[in-house]
Amino acid sequence: MLEKMSDFFEARLDGYDEHMLTNIESAKEFYPFTAKQLPTTANCHILDLGCGTGLELEEYYLLNPSARVTGIDLSQGMLSALKKKFADKDITLICDSYFDAPFDVSLFDGAVSVESLHHFTKEEKVPLYAKLHRALKDGGYFLLTDYFSLSNEEEQMHRQNLIALKAEQGIADDAFYHYDTPLTVKHETEALLEAGFSSVEVLENWGATYIIKAAK
Ligand SMILES: C[S@@+](CC[C@H](N)C(=O)[O-])C[C@H]1O[C@@H](n2cnc3c(N)ncnc32)[C@H](O)[C@@H]1O
Repeated sequence: MLEKMSDFFEARLDGYDEHMLTNIESAKEFYPFTAKQLPTTANCHILDLGCGTGLELEEYYLLNPSARVTGIDLSQGMLSALKKKFADKDITLICDSYFDAPFDVSLFDGAVSVESLHHFTKEEKVPLYAKLHRALKDGGYFLLTDYFSLSNEEEQMHRQNLIALKAEQGIADDAFYHYDTPLTVKHETEALLEAGFSSVEVLENWGATYIIKAAK
């Protein structure tokens, strides 16, 4: 049975960090790698989309302890766990969908999203990425660490499976339920460019997990 996106993550909060670090391939490499690519200027502003319990921030604060972070996540449980870890940090947490939450314009030096955006279509992502583009300062950039479909056929198969499951379970097409539908890197790149980013490059990959940098 499909579960609502926020219910899915609330239900898996216990043991979440350990699960990510031990069962997700290359997690021990991609969290530190992602953190190293983020801005290192003292007091810089970073936006984290789908921050969860903040695994990427654990690595980032080691490199830039004075960074000011805004984290957005649908799950209050994940955000409460994150807040406990970083009680001494300048961090603003927003419990909302990143599709709905307004972002401050031209505030952020950098933005990041790790393992969160593989649930959405290109059409859903373009307006989100346009809002993100406006939220970045000139010279700012977005780092996307996520897993991707390795072919168009794989991308279509995930999407068709989700459509069929929603139809079987009487769920509206546009409702956010948890089911992985990763795009190909090519389609993700197109979404970022259509949203206004000036350049998009792959920094690294481990199997199907890629780190993509999109410059404002
Ligand atoms: C697999 S977790 C990744 C969390 C964290 N970035 C990490 O790597 O450990 C995915 C997170 O994305 C959040 N999420 C999914 N869809 C979202 C949306 N539309 N708006 C905000 N958060 C969302 C979930 O609640 C969950 O905490």
